[in-house]
Amino acid sequence: MIGQNVKHDSGYGHVTGESIFIDDRPEVRGEVHVGIVGSPIACGELVEIKAEKALAHPDCLAVYTAKDLVGKKWGTIVHDQPILVEKKIGYRDEAVALIVSSKRESVEAIKKLVECVVVPKAGHYTIQEAKAAGDIIYRAAKPFAQGDANKAMASAPHKLKGTFIVGGQEHFYMESQAVIAYPLEHGQVEVHASSQHPSETQRVVAETLGTPLHHVVCVVKRMGGGFGGKESQGAPIAGYAALAATRLNRAARLVITKDQDMMLTGKRHPFENEWEVGFDDKGRILSLKTTLQADGGAYSDLSSSILERAMFHIDSAYFLENCWIDAVCYRTNNHSNTAFRGFGGPQGTMTIESIVEDIARHLKIDAADVRAANLYRGKNVRTPYGQDLENNMLPSIWDKLIATSDYRRRRAEIEKHNQSKTGTIRGMSLTSTKFGIAFTARFLNQGNALVNLHLDATVQVSTGATEMGQGVNTKIAQIVASALGLAMKDVQVMPTSTEKNHNTSATAASSGADINGAAALEAANMIRGRLCELAKKHFAGEEANAIKEHEVLHGKVDADFEFVNGKVTQKSSGKSIELKALVGIAYFNRISLGAYAHYKTPGLGFDKEKVQGKAFNYFTQGMAISEVEIDEYTGDMKVLRADILMDLGRPLNPGIDQGQVVGAYVQGMGWVTTEALYYDKDRKLVSHSPTTYKIPNIQDTPRVLNMNFIENLENHVNVHGSKAVGEPPLLLGISAWTAVKNALSYRGKGAGLTSPATGEETLRELSGKF
Ligand code: MTE
Ligand code: HPA
Ligand code: MOS
Repeated sequence: MIGQNVKHDSGYGHVTGESIFIDDRPEVRGEVHVGIVGSPIACGELVEIKAEKALAHPDCLAVYTAKDLVGKKWGTIVHDQPILVEKKIGYRDEAVALIVSSKRESVEAIKKLVECVVVPKAGHYTIQEAKAAGDIIYRAAKPFAQGDANKAMASAPHKLKGTFIVGGQEHFYMESQAVIAYPLEHGQVEVHASSQHPSETQRVVAETLGTPLHHVVCVVKRMGGGFGGKESQGAPIAGYAALAATRLNRAARLVITKDQDMMLTGKRHPFENEWEVGFDDKGRILSLKTTLQADGGAYSDLSSSILERAMFHIDSAYFLENCWIDAVCYRTNNHSNTAFRGFGGPQGTMTIESIVEDIARHLKIDAADVRAANLYRGKNVRTPYGQDLENNMLPSIWDKLIATSDYRRRRAEIEKHNQSKTGTIRGMSLTSTKFGIAFTARFLNQGNALVNLHLDATVQVSTGATEMGQGVNTKIAQIVASALGLAMKDVQVMPTSTEKNHNTSATAASSGADINGAAALEAANMIRGRLCELAKKHFAGEEANAIKEHEVLHGKVDADFEFVNGKVTQKSSGKSIELKALVGIAYFNRISLGAYAHYKTPGLGFDKEKVQGKAFNYFTQGMAISEVEIDEYTGDMKVLRADILMDLGRPLNPGIDQGQVVGAYVQGMGWVTTEALYYDKDRKLVSHSPTTYKIPNIQDTPRVLNMNFIENLENHVNVHGSKAVGEPPLLLGISAWTAVKNALSYRGKGAGLTSPATGEETLRELSGKF
């Protein structure tokens, strides 16, 4: 079961349309529809909301403003974001009021009838403007420093410096933010949300309403994608629906349109990172100094953690003997930027991968060789934050990928191609991912699971993890099925719910399966242990009332018992019994057939004030080589081929993990090649729909795409020796951008290439015009 390509539990359902998402829930009697009114300006003051015209609409039931809220602000780390604007407007299209309609089709019309009286003010919209104004959300507690960066820089034979600029990214989950709130008796409310974080949603709903937490239940069955965009920002939206539901005592549905979702919610953080590097003739980095600068948007959200994760990933796969890494997150009048697959890691890693391309260009050597010269290897495994890279797979990944991708021959071909005048230029680049697995905030590294074994020997399991397409439910079912010797069809993963699952973190940091899977294993093993003890008595002939009145079975998994194919076998005696029969005996002997387990990742403890301690449980590693072709007249780009090699320890489900790796690569590639966010002069997001915001489609994916796992039997830290997969491969999409940069270098261009390298951007670089 473990390590098998068990199919995704929603595979058929998603294709046939049987999977139930929030908006598939049938309408209940009296249900109402909520709409969010957005701010018409990006910065200034809200003077008044005029609701008369809206309330005069025959379908309008209510208009709510900040005055109707008990708790006024929310925020996962800092409570600084208004649930609805009270006075100060932070960004364009920020939520200022809610309307409630008896008919869904009237929502948009009613929204337009709400008048916002505002006084606009000049805001700042770029990192540079915020920097000039000194408006900071968060500054790194302490720079990461290793060796002596200044001294090594001063004596380095070669030096380069610059600013690396990378844009944001829209999550583009298929299911927009969506929630239905059902009022229960005495002001209680049950919220079904598309959320990565049911517990945070429960909390924000409770605070919005001024209700204690035990009167709020949040249930999450699944999301149609989250990608970090539902880690924090789904919570206030649930608050809006809950407000309408409890005020009107009617079920309230809030499913925002794609366009509004894109304008209202935050995105991946844009960064502008200043850097200076010193290196030797072989391209070995002798010193790196950098200040990372992020655009946090209007509120704190998760920005401080994201900024830190960018610092943690500035090294990518390369040993930085001497370095100095500082970081600042600025406050702007943009949507509040938030978690997005990689969580700052991609913006850190991309900076050094770009610098490596600059080093190679300067020395006129192959960038892949510069990377090899800098790879963590041998004793050189100390990261800039003092944690050693254990289970270092990087040198073997590099060797293997260079060989299997036929890198040297293809490089020679690219050089030949670029000398001939075909109107196209090609480029190729290898980049790395060494992603730290664990929430960097230690307390978040806890998971939980409730396992109920029923009388027909089937199981329902509920954990703190939420399913967003990544396959965590399938993996957890595999873990439980294998522990109890059941078939997959006999294990059902149930919706995540705050009434079953406490101490729950967001399903994030790629660790959903790690921590909740470990908890599920422990819970299943608690039941298995009790059954072992019982089976021992049973096989010894103690049939009737085998368990004495005062006896409580705690149970330890006994290696003498095997649970396979619905049978329990005692190896020493050769005796066996159907699991179902044993379950029956357990029930009649009053033995608990359910277990709850809590799991915390051991050994973590990074102190950011001192830059000391263990930040990560382990590292998921990988590399990719992308080859691109650019039309010199249009700037249009195709990815001809990509080769990916990942280390996932012993993957729990290689098929699902392959989907994660390929999907993440393509999503990363989209970020750095086509997904540009455009705002007009009034800061309205112009690219707020699939017609104007270009995510990769099937033609944009690499013409040839090879994906493999490297064998790694040396990883022992995580559940069944597996490694987390969700975010790490997103960073490999960066290789498509560095390949563009490499292609441009054949024409003496591209040193200042920014991201995304859209056709326009590439043409601008090539032509020096526009
Ligand atoms: N895969 C799909 N299909 N949909 C998603 O929304 N989110 C990613 C990743 N893979 C996502 C996905 C992100 S941002 C994270 S943190 C992980 O899945 C979360 O799930 P896990 O911890 O169970 O891997
Ligand atoms: N990663 C992802 N999500 C998070 C983290 C993290 O380190 N911390 C808080 N939310
Ligand atoms: Mo993922 S960005 O940690 O939700």
